[in-house]
Amino acid sequence: MDRIAIIGGAQLNGSIPVSGAKNSAIKLMAASLLTDEPLRLTNMPRLADTRFLGKLLKRLGVEVTESDGPDGQQTLLHAAEITSGFAPYDLVRQMRASFNVLGPLVARSGQAKVSLPGGCTIGARPVDLHLQAIEALGAKIDLHEGYVYAQAPRGLKGAEITFPFVSVGATEHAMLAAVLADGVSVIHNAACEPELVDLQECLNAMGAKVEGAGTPTVTITGVARLHGATRAVIPDRIEMGTYAVAAAMAGGEVRLTNARPGLIDALLDKLKEAGAGVEQTADGCIIRRNGHRLEAVDIETAPFPGFATDLQAQFMALMTTAKGESRIRETIFENRFMHAPELMRLGADISVSGGEARVRGVEQLEGAEVMATDLRASVSLVIAGLVARGETTVSRIYHLDRGFERLEEKLGACGAQVRRIAGDGEPEL
Ligand code: EPZ
Repeated sequence: MDRIAIIGGAQLNGSIPVSGAKNSAIKLMAASLLTDEPLRLTNMPRLADTRFLGKLLKRLGVEVTESDGPDGQQTLLHAAEITSGFAPYDLVRQMRASFNVLGPLVARSGQAKVSLPGGCTIGARPVDLHLQAIEALGAKIDLHEGYVYAQAPRGLKGAEITFPFVSVGATEHAMLAAVLADGVSVIHNAACEPELVDLQECLNAMGAKVEGAGTPTVTITGVARLHGATRAVIPDRIEMGTYAVAAAMAGGEVRLTNARPGLIDALLDKLKEAGAGVEQTADGCIIRRNGHRLEAVDIETAPFPGFATDLQAQFMALMTTAKGESRIRETIFENRFMHAPELMRLGADISVSGGEARVRGVEQLEGAEVMATDLRASVSLVIAGLVARGETTVSRIYHLDRGFERLEEKLGACGAQVRRIAGDGEPEL
């Protein structure tokens, strides 16, 4: 398996273009199941997760064609006919969001058999709210031998769906299913993440009638059919936030481009509070730090527009060398501190108790061999490696490849000494 090696100590100076958002791209790809006409997605990131979903969609009958056009990387998805409603365990377990094909399959062809996704390293992550939504829309749901069997032979019906707490995936899933339902659906206590707005805009470009995404109440007036469309995937706010933290950690000046304002304000406020220079620009931001040590600040993760759980690990890495003690509270997932013991291998001083970690900043981290445990945890180790004395090698970086496009190239272009070592131990050419 590949590893990433980082030699710490170099400042970052330059510009990093932000890619399209993984967590939006995979939901828009699932939307292609809702129409027999082609859906063209531009600003598409090329990631392991988009490949996984492409593989599943092909199995369901979707033609998936990737190309580099005048608008950059794009993917054309054409579900002229759904040839199978079966999403097997081996494909769904590789990427949990594959579960979101269930709603579109039932909406379009009245039936589906989709594997339950199973466990996850960051928490139990059940799908009960997803099933509650699809059932409310009139599908008959049965669970057998690890599979969800959903049936709605006469189509889905508009419904009121009230989620007991906010779930990004369940809100998206309910939207994907309700667009072809007969009548009006209202989702109460909907997630407000920017990816929901992206999904609404994509569905509406395909002829759907969705309003309110980005607020806690989403209203969907069902239509009989959707048509093809072209949509650019929203910029990846988590990738943007990750490089903002990396710049604050390593020092120097980095301009993040190809993004948009308002996606990571909660993080930028915390970076300012810690003492980093932050300047918002029309298509991103500039992050600066010139030598001085950052101050410890506390964070608590929350649904959007709060501090994103997907940036918590990166911020913890940043706090390992800040002056003072930082308290980091994780409120979204119950087991999302797996990076803490790995950061401690680099010399960080961290104690974890329940949903809270206390990070006492040290003057200097030391390079070591560490292991990635999930996508965001793995990039937090790369960020720590940027300032650790000597070499840090991060193994199991298949996690990293799920969500960060050309990471070594993007950081390397700003002066970081980062290289990929191929599985046989030899550096990759
Ligand atoms: C999405 O996951 C993202 N994934 C996650 O990013 C992100 O951390 C999360 O939203 C929160 O922002 C994708 O978009 C593919 P949730 P999702 O449903 O939709 C519980 C990354 O690194 N819950 O909002 O699965 C759940 O266990 C990933 O890119 C239920 O109990 O998150 C969690 O505690 C990691 N029952 C909470 O709700 C359900 O039916 C919020 O999860 C659904 C969720």
